This record gives sequence, structure tokens and C-alpha cells, in this order.
Amino acid sequence: MAYVVTQPCDGCKYTDCVTACPCECFREGDRMLYIDPVECIDCDACVHECPVEAIFPEWSVPAEWESYIALNAEMAAKLPAITEKKPPLTGE
Ligand code: F3S
Repeated sequence: MAYVVTQPCDGCKYTDCVTACPCECFREGDRMLYIDPVECIDCDACVHECPVEAIFPEWSVPAEWESYIALNAEMAAKLPAITEKKPPLTGE
């Protein structure tokens, strides 16, 4: 099991989540981040950092966003790690 980044992250990328992760699980795509399910230790720390509530444990991802479970695994395997916060895409 692992945690999953879902649709609310798309176009936001606040990146507060990456500073909470103790095992550098986050991977950076152009429009959103993904969590590497191989590295994730289910600690729950990132969930509370996201201002748009984009992160869910795999077992409680809302039905409309279930496709993000496979998407996180697929994208995390080919993207670079992100471990430091950066300005969001929203321009805030
Ligand atoms: Fe995305 Fe939320 Fe992290 S918007 S980058 S999952 S803090």
C-alpha cells in the first residue's frame, strides 16, 4: 500500500508535501507530483501538509480518482525526485 497524489494537485503543485516526507517519495511531473509506491512507508505525514487535500491513502482514494493509483506508480518510475519546496504553479 501507499499514498497517492490525485487530481487537486494537477496545476497547483504546492510542494508543501515534499518537506514532510521522511523517505523522499515524491516525484515531480510538469503539472503535479506523484508518490513512488515502492518507497512510501504509509506514514501519513504528507496528507496534512497539502492545502488542497490532494493526497489520500490508496485504500481511501475517492472513486472518481482511482485511476491516479496506477498513474502515480507509472509516473513515479520515470520522473526525478523532488525534496525541496518550490513556488506553486498557481503563482501565489
Ligand atoms: Fe500537490 Fe498538494 Fe503536494 S498540491 S505538490 S500534493 S502539497
